[in-house]
Amino acid sequence: MFAARQAVGLFQRRAFSSTAANASKVAILGAAGGIGQPLSLLLKLNPRVSELALYDIVGAPGVAADISHVNTKSTVKGYGKGEAKEALKGSEIVLIPAGVPRKPGMTRDDLFNTNASIVRDLAKECAEACPDASILIIANPVNSTVPITAEVFKSKGVYNPKKLFGVTTLDVVRASRFISELKKTDPANESIVVVGGHSGATIVPLLSQSGSELKGEQLDEYVKRVQFGGDEVVKAKDGKGSATLSMAMAGARFAESLLKAAQGQKGVIEPTFVDSPLYKESHGVTYFASNVELGPNGVEKIHPVGDVTEYEQKLLDVCLKDLKGNIEKGEKFVKENP
Ligand code: NAI
Repeated sequence: MFAARQAVGLFQRRAFSSTAANASKVAILGAAGGIGQPLSLLLKLNPRVSELALYDIVGAPGVAADISHVNTKSTVKGYGKGEAKEALKGSEIVLIPAGVPRKPGMTRDDLFNTNASIVRDLAKECAEACPDASILIIANPVNSTVPITAEVFKSKGVYNPKKLFGVTTLDVVRASRFISELKKTDPANESIVVVGGHSGATIVPLLSQSGSELKGEQLDEYVKRVQFGGDEVVKAKDGKGSATLSMAMAGARFAESLLKAAQGQKGVIEPTFVDSPLYKESHGVTYFASNVELGPNGVEKIHPVGDVTEYEQKLLDVCLKDLKGNIEKGEKFVKENP
């Protein structure tokens, strides 16, 4: 009897989770790009996704046709130029990797001129077609494209700070991988807190909080590698782009965390660049990446930065100065180019 009840309970839980999963439409804007394609594939493999909408100004129908043959339950449809609204309608999550990537010698801020207007225009489409969706910004410079998206949503009267996320997951993915290489451990067991923003000196790994005891030159080298890990990929790809595959994994992980939280799982925590109170009053920095607990309505709780060493405080001071400029640049862009 007890076993039978347990079995019914299990079935009901399964039925519930698959019903919830069946309701999740995810849209990817820039789906035919270097990140977009593997990201689309990874989300096709995710049973929590019921419908995938792949939008790009070139090539999305081809990517969609290809991915649609993967034998998982979700449906896939490609959308081309002029069809963004149709792609976005009813989406619960929108990931935006649309925009140009870096070439050797470029910083993420060098992408501003091209990507600012791409993200602004896509944000307008989102604000009109799916104002309640969670918007995940991958396009760089994230420190500026997130404020750009916020300003667009504000101008349309639909801004919800709990549902706008700059995807910084790749920074913690790298941070745990790189420390595991030094310590000869399994990276899956290495959880490193990374705060700040998503470019160079604004990426601040807080190694002291994970109990790691790197010192001197080794610590400097580790921090620099986490801050500039993206450059290793840009250099190795030699003009053919930046991180795409590891970024797709990181983006898919973040989307999965949001879906888990939306479907009722508690205690889901991811680092992400959000509208944050942490340094608003003290430094006038209105967006900041730290660990964030996710819930059914998006941001549930923003975790404070916690205890830092003197060394880490110095990194944070540099980060906050740079971040303020990056954020203001994004906000100014939308004011001057609405
Ligand atoms: P990519 O050039 O391979 O792909 C970009 C795609 O966006 C292309 O298919 C292009 O047709 C599309 N696109 C351009 N304008 C569009 C528009 N208005 N509407 C819809 N689609 C549009 O570039 P990749 O390598 O996929 O990188 C994309 C962005 O992601 C870059 O800005 C890059 O810097 C950023 N990135 C962010 C990371 C992060 O950690 N947040 C990590 C790595 C890259």
